[in-house]
Amino acid sequence: MSAPASASPADSDLVRAARGLPVSRTPVWFMRQAGRSLPEYRELRAGTKMLDACQDPDLITEITLQPVRRHGVDAAIFFSDIVLPLVVAGVDIEIKPGVGPVVANPVRSVADVDTLPDLEPERLAFLETAVRRLVAELGATPLIGFAGAPFTLATYLIEGGPSKEHARTKAFMYAEPEAWSRLLQKLSVSSSTFLRTQVDAGASAVQLFDSWAGVLSAADYAERVLPHSRAVFDGLGDRDVPRIHFGVGTGELLPLIGDAGADVVGVDWRLPLDEAARRVGPGRSLQGNLDPAVLLADRETVDREVRRVVEQGKAARGHIFNLGHGVLPDTDPGVLTHVVELVHELTVSSACPTTPGE
Ligand code: CP3
Repeated sequence: MSAPASASPADSDLVRAARGLPVSRTPVWFMRQAGRSLPEYRELRAGTKMLDACQDPDLITEITLQPVRRHGVDAAIFFSDIVLPLVVAGVDIEIKPGVGPVVANPVRSVADVDTLPDLEPERLAFLETAVRRLVAELGATPLIGFAGAPFTLATYLIEGGPSKEHARTKAFMYAEPEAWSRLLQKLSVSSSTFLRTQVDAGASAVQLFDSWAGVLSAADYAERVLPHSRAVFDGLGDRDVPRIHFGVGTGELLPLIGDAGADVVGVDWRLPLDEAARRVGPGRSLQGNLDPAVLLADRETVDREVRRVVEQGKAARGHIFNLGHGVLPDTDPGVLTHVVELVHELTVSSACPTTPGE
């Protein structure tokens, strides 16, 4: 068997690594691969607001394809945002450049929870159109659909925007446990609808982003958050696509992040993958975990760190190479392309002993 892509996304290296099956080489993609590090993205987005771009099938398709064409990554990630289902439901949110999502009327009371609008699935026709178009264009390259996990979405709704400590969110969680549970339940329904729509239109894998879950203790995460993230995955029913679950700073939560229903646990750069594999346990693959800041360093450092991540990733049942969090805006896109080539080069012969190196 030689390195080139398999014939169908369901049999791609990404899907196979997620399931712990043999691969032709370690698959690579980057969180936030579509976006600000690419000049062609900035050009295409000029004059269009982020959340308008996320509802335009032509722009979604082109922006999603840009990094696949440029870097030769092993998967596309659907161009959208975690707050999009809330926006489509009618919540007043704007994504401010350089800041992130800003909510006009933050959720601060029990009444605010109960008046939060539900997402009507009929409003997601544009999403279905965009996914179908993308899947047709991508051929054998898998498309990863995604959604925000209920906790991370709740932090934006309650804080009103990005925050470091998420103190208001945690205070609400402790002070209003019933309203908290209703809020996370509502969010799990809309994220689940968002994911299901992408899978039914042809996405080959899904990733649930619980970016800020690492601010919680394991006990609070297990009791007050995990059941709602599990509900998002459960909403996929028996749809046969691998499930990736990711958060930042989740070293202490890793076994629980897996327990919420993941085939693959995403790991940030704080923990080496061999240690992460021990914490997650045998039945799951890992995704990660090059520090995005390393890509701003010299080439020798980049190569050394890529080699280290590839080596440590061998401890996992399956390894999907990625960064430990999203691509930083100042990253030179040429370095991303180089990382894809290096990971492929390093893993092609060892994964397939009968194939000589490229
Ligand atoms: O390649 C991809 O991953 C593209 C799709 C994507 C975006 N956002 C596009 C985007 C995905 C998967 C996301 C997820 C997302 N959005 C998360 C989870 C991932 C993570 O980074 O932890 C979170 C927390 C958000 C909320 C959000 N949206 C933030 C924090 C920001 C950054 C604000 C900034 O400009 O620094 C956004 C905006 C956003 N989402 C941009 C893109 C391409 C930048 C918008 C622009 O071009 O102006």
